[in-house]
Amino acid sequence: MKFLFFLAGLASLGQLVANNINWVAVGQRVLPQTLADAAPFPIGFAVNPAKLLNNAPYQQTVTQEASSVTADVAMKPSRISPQKGAYNFELADQLVEFARAQKKRLHGHTLVWYIDTSPNWLKQIRDSTELETTLQAYIQTVGAHFKGKVASWDVVNEAVDNQGVIRKDSLNTLGKTLFNVGKILGNDYVARMFQYAHQADPTAKLFYNDYGQETRPAKLDAIVKMATNYKRRGIPIHGLGLQMHMSIDTPEAGIENAIRKLAETGLLIHISELDIALNPGKKKDFVVTSELLEKQYQKYKFVVSTYKKWVPIGQQFGITLWGVDDGTSWIPGFCQCADAALPFDASFAKKRAYQGFLEGLK
Ligand code: XIL
Repeated sequence: MKFLFFLAGLASLGQLVANNINWVAVGQRVLPQTLADAAPFPIGFAVNPAKLLNNAPYQQTVTQEASSVTADVAMKPSRISPQKGAYNFELADQLVEFARAQKKRLHGHTLVWYIDTSPNWLKQIRDSTELETTLQAYIQTVGAHFKGKVASWDVVNEAVDNQGVIRKDSLNTLGKTLFNVGKILGNDYVARMFQYAHQADPTAKLFYNDYGQETRPAKLDAIVKMATNYKRRGIPIHGLGLQMHMSIDTPEAGIENAIRKLAETGLLIHISELDIALNPGKKKDFVVTSELLEKQYQKYKFVVSTYKKWVPIGQQFGITLWGVDDGTSWIPGFCQCADAALPFDASFAKKRAYQGFLEGLK
């Protein structure tokens, strides 16, 4: 009888998630396996709170597969404080509520970013004292609002340029903002932002987050040096984020080198924004082929297994995918090209990449 109930349970679960399921034998029973179940560390997705509410398969995938969530944009300064002195926490608080109800860790992203997600009013400030006190007040208010609700923050995002120097230019991919925190506040501003964040929320784990460390050795070395220097000075930094927006062509040696070197700092290590593009050449006539999907499978497996291999258990903050599915991924909008960089396709079906992720965890 019990067995029949068990089968009935499986059938209804099966209807819920269609064929989109991996099965794992536990003793004599066969159970579905998700990334979060299979991983010894947190598995995250960058999510959009509106889609979590309105898009059922999107929500279901996050609910089942993740143990951690990051807001893709809802917690960036331009969304939280679009006008000077005004704070709008509505969208972000929806995510706080989702994380609480679904018992997911919430990773905050991001308090300070030199680039275009700084609100316009902030970009107007050129006076160093005014900018410093404004950022301090922002971090104080936002940190206090999310205190006890977020586990962690990316305190400063992308402060180091590709040559390994604190950014002094004001260029971004969309044009010129004429705003640069590093230029106005000096190289050590990053350390002070960590101090402000720690004052605002002394229990949050504080991260420095950046991209391209797997392909730019000078940048990687500068980040390691900065983190080591902060540790020596008692600056409250607890972790480093490797964004890892990469492609099937990203060399494995660089991926391994970045993970190893960051892990050697002794800090928590978060692969914070993983996606693996199939169309790095931005080809206009791009089509997804099974050969490309196999390469993506290999690369996901390599990244996950390399993280597991080189990051000591106590430093494994987890792996976060930047998006849920290929249909809502940020990559096509960013590259202005077709792509399919995530382990779930646009119908939320598991790709070979999903299998690669699972195999990398073994
Ligand atoms: C991206 C979001 O996914 C997009 O929706 C938004 O238009 C631009 O920002 N590095 C980061 C993330 O740290 O915040 C970026 O997210 C992707 C690159």
